[in-house]
Amino acid sequence: MTQVIVDRGSWIEEAQRYLVGGVNSPVRAFRAVGREAIVVTKGQGALISDASRRTWIDCIMGWGALILGHAHPGVLRAVRRQTAGGVLFGLTNQAEAALAKAISEAMPSIEQVRFTPSGTEACMTAVRLARACTGRSKVLTFEGCYHGHSDGLLVKRSEGVPEAIAQETIVIPYNDLDALEEAFRRFGEQLACVLLEPVAANMGVVVPEAEFLRRLRELTRRHGVLLMFDEVVTGFRVAYGGAQTRLGVTPDLTVLGKIIGGGFPVGAIGGPRQLMQRLAPEGTVYHAGTFAGHPVAMVAGLTTLQLLQRRAPYERLEALAAQLADGIRDAAQRAGAAVEVNHLGSMLTVFFADQPVRRFQDAQRADPARFARFANGLADHGVLIPPSQFEAMFLSTAHTREHVERIVQAASKVFAQVGG
Ligand SMILES: Cc1ncc(COP(=O)(O)O)c(C=O)c1O
Repeated sequence: MTQVIVDRGSWIEEAQRYLVGGVNSPVRAFRAVGREAIVVTKGQGALISDASRRTWIDCIMGWGALILGHAHPGVLRAVRRQTAGGVLFGLTNQAEAALAKAISEAMPSIEQVRFTPSGTEACMTAVRLARACTGRSKVLTFEGCYHGHSDGLLVKRSEGVPEAIAQETIVIPYNDLDALEEAFRRFGEQLACVLLEPVAANMGVVVPEAEFLRRLRELTRRHGVLLMFDEVVTGFRVAYGGAQTRLGVTPDLTVLGKIIGGGFPVGAIGGPRQLMQRLAPEGTVYHAGTFAGHPVAMVAGLTTLQLLQRRAPYERLEALAAQLADGIRDAAQRAGAAVEVNHLGSMLTVFFADQPVRRFQDAQRADPARFARFANGLADHGVLIPPSQFEAMFLSTAHTREHVERIVQAASKVFAQVGG
């Protein structure tokens, strides 16, 4: 019989015994900051609680998926309505087309959409699609960007990736024009696609330089290479129409996830009909999935996009993030702590670095020990941030100016302990 465990110690023990590392995704183990994993029992608005009723202002927000905060009543209502009518059909459901239409209306580069159960699968399939469309095999990616855990997109980051697959992926530094030119000189005619996070969130937040994106678009066009934006994080986050509308660069294919599932598992590939029609059953690029276009994820995502469109919270979110970034910078300066705060939209990273962070190498030079003391100190003062300097903090519409003030107050106390 399943035992109901009430005290926090037992929760953690049980998780450690039966789950690898006590988690189902490595960063959740908090190892980078040397802290015990948190076993969450509840999320409400901007707050999250654990089994021993400790509560934090949550700046992880489902790693960016929860732009409306935890347990948003509108999303919950839509989910209840759907679950009462059946949770899975394995057939086309009404909400799928409605969500695809909402995405297509938000992002002019997208005419058709294929949903998947995760961002990983969407990236993996998008690469297959690009290879089929171009008849080429190589993929250009950037250090510090993350595109899920398929073999070809994990090169040099995991054991178990065959050398033959690794050779098909070229990895160069982000925001590095010379490296970009060199990659196209050497491999331009062999590349199927360039895959990048148009605003990086997985080396901490790193904003692309305008000239880097402009040249990337130019080179991909000239060499017949598909430009693929991974907007799993940035889609409906940095603007309703994602980074592509905000930065004014139009990709050939887009990968989405997170926000478009309203907190449920999702991914998507979107692009012009002419490219998308290469996917089965119209074309011969295979993709399928029992849970693809899951009805509950579709209604949660659709409701989320409708609320975002109706309420247009982006200016307010941006102002909150600016308040947070400025507050943290001031607090660090007062304590004599050298930090670089990168932010765009409602995503933000505090790097313990004394030089601007423009690429992964810069992020790697930031001090992990001081970051760990900062993250742990904040947690002790009731603020939960991602337990790694290579992640982004996320704000949601449930966060208020008061929450941000509390985060800044906590940061002020902690900087004094972390030191300069
Ligand atoms: C930019 C980016 N792409 C792809 C993925 C993979 O998405 P998923 O975790 O849904 O497989 C992530 C996950 O964090 C991501 O941040």
